[in-house]
Amino acid sequence: MRPALGYNTWNDLRCGNWTETDVRAVVDNFEKLGLIAAGYEYINLDDCWQISRDSQGRIVPDPAKFPSGMKALADYVHSKGLKFGLYTDRGTMTCGGRPGSKGYEKIDAEVYASWGVDYLKEDSCYASQVHDVAFMEYGAMRDALNATGRPIYFSLCGWNPWYAPVGATLGNSWRIAGDVNSYPDAIRAMEINEPLAKYAGPGAWNDPDMLVGSSAGTAARMSPAQSRTQFSVWAVMAAPLLIGTTLTQMSAWDLETYTNAEVLAIDQDPLGLQGTRGFQNSLAQVWGRKIQVGSGRGVAVALINNSPATLTVTCNSTCLATFGVPPNVILQARDVWAHAAAPPVNTSVGLSADVGPSGSSMLFVLSA
Ligand code: GLA
Repeated sequence: MRPALGYNTWNDLRCGNWTETDVRAVVDNFEKLGLIAAGYEYINLDDCWQISRDSQGRIVPDPAKFPSGMKALADYVHSKGLKFGLYTDRGTMTCGGRPGSKGYEKIDAEVYASWGVDYLKEDSCYASQVHDVAFMEYGAMRDALNATGRPIYFSLCGWNPWYAPVGATLGNSWRIAGDVNSYPDAIRAMEINEPLAKYAGPGAWNDPDMLVGSSAGTAARMSPAQSRTQFSVWAVMAAPLLIGTTLTQMSAWDLETYTNAEVLAIDQDPLGLQGTRGFQNSLAQVWGRKIQVGSGRGVAVALINNSPATLTVTCNSTCLATFGVPPNVILQARDVWAHAAAPPVNTSVGLSADVGPSGSSMLFVLSA
């Protein structure tokens, strides 16, 4: 299983007054904008879809927002060949104060399966932060989901790196840090995620949180360059890629970012190896990841400039060696944002490029 590709309501709509009509519009726009063709698959509802429990303990979707019910909405999502995701919390309440799943794991899982849910995000508000308790509670939902017999991608949202060593035993991905609402948040998530690379692999991924776009009209935003950098580095980190920007008014820039097939291929690379950082100083960082290129091997390398002026960023032979690239070799280089060949790289000299300011980046694929 590859890292999930899709959309989530949170960074776009928060806990606002969005309804099934808005979700249907997301689905329709997925088709229109070419996101389905690009490989995006999940339409995930985050917090605030639920309102109460009925007399039998079953979770009740807000009838004002979802008058047709969740099954009908899931059916609509499925009718486009997409998958449907919901959100809950392992505590007594969700972060938005809605009913949580604590003690209701079995009945919730059964209800989700009966609606046709394919993906479940489980948050950690109003819940114990004692590690063993957290693992036990996530284990309860994992078992309940498995018992339904329906394959459901299980996304843990515990905001901490200590989930990584056990994450693969509990779910398909696990949040390793707090929410990413801004570029500094993204840098912090990268910092926390870097030493966790060894815990990621096919079917089980570190989750540095969702994507933040640059389109006007969304709750969370970064600059266009920064949101593209987040996308590039998230791909190098084999992260789930959940779009959180408006689909009704997505900017041409954001659409170009999120439909770049070469970057998506890096994220979805079959080797499933999470990238690492090969260089950093106070101005710049370099991240890289081994990938498959044709029948051979290559490496994806992101050069990031966090200084306020354009800067030459270099991954020298020592930096390249951290990604397994040997010295004294001439490699072909491809600039995946320009969709064009870049000058060949002598690995004893390194890969260098002039990168724009303030969180801009460039992403290359090097191969024999
Ligand atoms: C937490 C999670 C977010 C989002 C909100 C919803 O902050 O980390 O991703 O799900 O709750 O309330």
